[in-house]
Amino acid sequence: MGGFEVLWIGRVILLLQLVPGILGWGKEGHYTICKIAEGYLSEDASAAVKELLPDHAEGDLASVCSWADEIRFHFHWSGPLHYVDTPDFRCNYSYCRDCHDTAGHKNRCVTGAIYNYTMQLMSYSDSNSEMKYNLTEALMFLSHFIGDVHQPLHVGFLGDEGGNTITIRWYKRKTNLHHVWDTMIIESALKTFYSKDLSIMIQAIQKNITDGWSDEFLLWEGCALDQTVCPDPYASESINLACKFAYRNATPGSTLGDDYFLSRLPVVEKRLAQSGVRLAATLNRIFSSRQSISQE
Ligand SMILES: *[C@@H]1O[C@H](CO)[C@@H](O)[C@H](O)[C@H]1NC(C)=O
Ligand SMILES: *[C@@H]1O[C@H](CO)[C@@H](O)[C@H](O)[C@H]1NC(C)=O
Ligand SMILES: *[C@@H]1O[C@H](CO)[C@@H](O)[C@H](O)[C@H]1NC(C)=O
Ligand SMILES: *[C@@H]1O[C@H](CO)[C@@H](O)[C@H](O)[C@H]1NC(C)=O
Ligand SMILES: [Zn+2]
Repeated sequence: MGGFEVLWIGRVILLLQLVPGILGWGKEGHYTICKIAEGYLSEDASAAVKELLPDHAEGDLASVCSWADEIRFHFHWSGPLHYVDTPDFRCNYSYCRDCHDTAGHKNRCVTGAIYNYTMQLMSYSDSNSEMKYNLTEALMFLSHFIGDVHQPLHVGFLGDEGGNTITIRWYKRKTNLHHVWDTMIIESALKTFYSKDLSIMIQAIQKNITDGWSDEFLLWEGCALDQTVCPDPYASESINLACKFAYRNATPGSTLGDDYFLSRLPVVEKRLAQSGVRLAATLNRIFSSRQSISQE
């Protein structure tokens, strides 16, 4: 890569940072998810994460959780790894049926990518694995995709590209339904309830995890059958929520306002909480030290 190109990419990344929330769950969503996850990392996982993070992250996982969106147009192959499309109006998800890109290549979808980068990170403690995978990238991809699979419309219908082709108004602004769920609901919440301060919203969600949702916490964390990672149930939850909340009353051309915003915000906040808790639990399983296995 030439120096000019590096500079150019640098500028684009800077630009994306100045205009918050263009892609993905927006920047705020991914930041929130990884900030929540940081609070639940084990000592082993926290040490491994710190070692793998790029220098510019300065030890803060949350600061690189939108990296996968920032490089999306440069690493063109990674585009289909941010979502999975399901057949129109079925409201269910199946890995075998749905996890492929538009050319039909198997495993090229968000759940496939989560398995892929988990598998790569499992080689962290193999001394000769560094040659094979870039684990810094694997960590940044995994942290981002566990967020994406929780955004209900990242597991949406094929025909409307997960709400991207459903044009609506969000209050007075013309936008599309996918963007409402990535960004607009969170932005409106920041303005209306959190004095435009993301850290206040994060604290409110963290408080709910320890108070309101403490009984669900263990269910969120666990994977059936002692798997290290389990994105398929998260995708099933997402398409279910997409049908119940995202698509409902959001037909093309409609205007969404207070009724939609106030009834959907709790869904968004809970999904951010679940992704954070599940990202941490996954990283904890990936990086659980060998000693703890040999002690059994
Ligand atoms: C999805 O739902 C349809 C009915 O709407 C059913 O026929 C199909 O078997 C379901 N598939 C899965 C994977 O659950
Ligand atoms: C798995 O990761 C490698 C390295 O980033 C990438 O080239 C490949 O496309 C990924 N495949 C999937 C299905 O995520
Ligand atoms: C791994 O990926 C990061 C982020 O793309 C990059 O900065 C770094 O140079 C890569 N490391 C190697 C050894 O290629
Ligand atoms: C906290 O939980 C309550 C009850 O589920 C919900 O109504 C509220 O929106 C949640 N707040 C946040 C910040 O998650
Ligand atoms: Zn994304």
